[in-house]
Amino acid sequence: MPAGYTRRDGALFCDGVALDTIADRVGTPVYVYSANTIRNQYQRLAAAVEGLPVHVHYSVKANSSLAILALLRSLGAGVDIVSGGELHRALEAGFAGSDIVFSGVGKTPAELERAVRAGVRSINVESEGELAVLQDVAHRIGVVAPVVLRVNPDVAVDTPHPYTRTGERGMKFGIPLDRVIAVARAMSHMTDVKLIGLASHLGSQIGDATPYALAAKALVQLKREIEGENLAQLTTLDLGGGLGVTDDDGSSLDLSAYADALRIAAAEPGVEILIEPGRFLVAESGVLVTRVLYRKHSGGKEIVITDAGMNDFIRPSLYASHHAIDSASSDAEPTLRANIVGPVCESGDFFANNRLIADVAPGDLLVLRATGAYGYSMASNYNSRPRPAEVLVDGSRFAVITERESDADLTRRETFAPDWIED
Ligand code: LLP
Repeated sequence: MPAGYTRRDGALFCDGVALDTIADRVGTPVYVYSANTIRNQYQRLAAAVEGLPVHVHYSVKANSSLAILALLRSLGAGVDIVSGGELHRALEAGFAGSDIVFSGVGKTPAELERAVRAGVRSINVESEGELAVLQDVAHRIGVVAPVVLRVNPDVAVDTPHPYTRTGERGMKFGIPLDRVIAVARAMSHMTDVKLIGLASHLGSQIGDATPYALAAKALVQLKREIEGENLAQLTTLDLGGGLGVTDDDGSSLDLSAYADALRIAAAEPGVEILIEPGRFLVAESGVLVTRVLYRKHSGGKEIVITDAGMNDFIRPSLYASHHAIDSASSDAEPTLRANIVGPVCESGDFFANNRLIADVAPGDLLVLRATGAYGYSMASNYNSRPRPAEVLVDGSRFAVITERESDADLTRRETFAPDWIED
């Protein structure tokens, strides 16, 4: 069981609160997060990089709920954002502009303007086209925009699914390695953008520190070339996120080997190292609690139908990801081999196939582990299903941090009587 989750007389608790208490009070499906587990993960990371000039910028996309953002802010984290919506959330949660770095391969002019006006620490620019737009935006509003060039370092990573790899040549992310110096040269003639650093992000669920060391070396070499040509003085090297955790199908990253990789970049004089972990900080803090609706037998298979579906949690459908599934009320040996599926009208709507779980009956609660990252933040309304609630547990207390959506929420912005506009 991940940290923060224990059994008492068979019943599964998140810290001091029984999951069935939460399910009874708040309903299901519901995401539950342990605040203490998030604090512990943050402290583990902070301890591993102690003494290094490293600053943690939590990657908001992993779990963007305001209460989670506020918790991470209280621990001292900044944030990494990828959209105007995430900028809005970060500011709502109390982050200052200087706590925010703005990554993303397709920022709009309007998003760039909002971010520059908010005084973000850096815009992590991913293409020459984006740089030209940023220069125009910054010129128009009379602010010099701080720029970190996101480099595609051509470093391969071995992640559980190809969709979560980003740092190889030909991928859509970052400026190709062999273009970076040319871009830095061009920037030295631009008046409204200032090159302050370099960044890379290799992928997600990385279990080996070697790629981080390769990326750090690539960034250091580029930094030296840029400074050698007197194009800029670089104060930021951002090594992105991607740290694998134990309780998913990636392997967990050895934090001391990771810190050694960061040390390669930190050895450069006058730089601050930024890291952008998302999953590492929140994945294992969270579970998705769902109630069994039905069981049926078909074609020699047992099928367990839950009230959560792929719209609530899409990772198994999208990445074939493995998440342990426990009974919330019993620690009996698993004896049932079944497909655990949701109510959505898609054959791809499953959480596990041919999985050995506790012998559950309709009404029982099942718990999907390590769903604190890329769970709620990837939820949708497909099949017109209101998104679930989110609950934060802190010691013996719990609170709803995101209300369950209602049916009225689903249609609030729609009309059946359109206001036609004549062209
Ligand atoms: N920085 C940048 C620029 C990123 O694109 C990402 C994730 C991160 C940091 C944080 O990565 P993390 O530490 O959480 O691995 N939906 C997928 C993961 C997509 C990650 C996208 N970028 C999943 O559920 O596995």
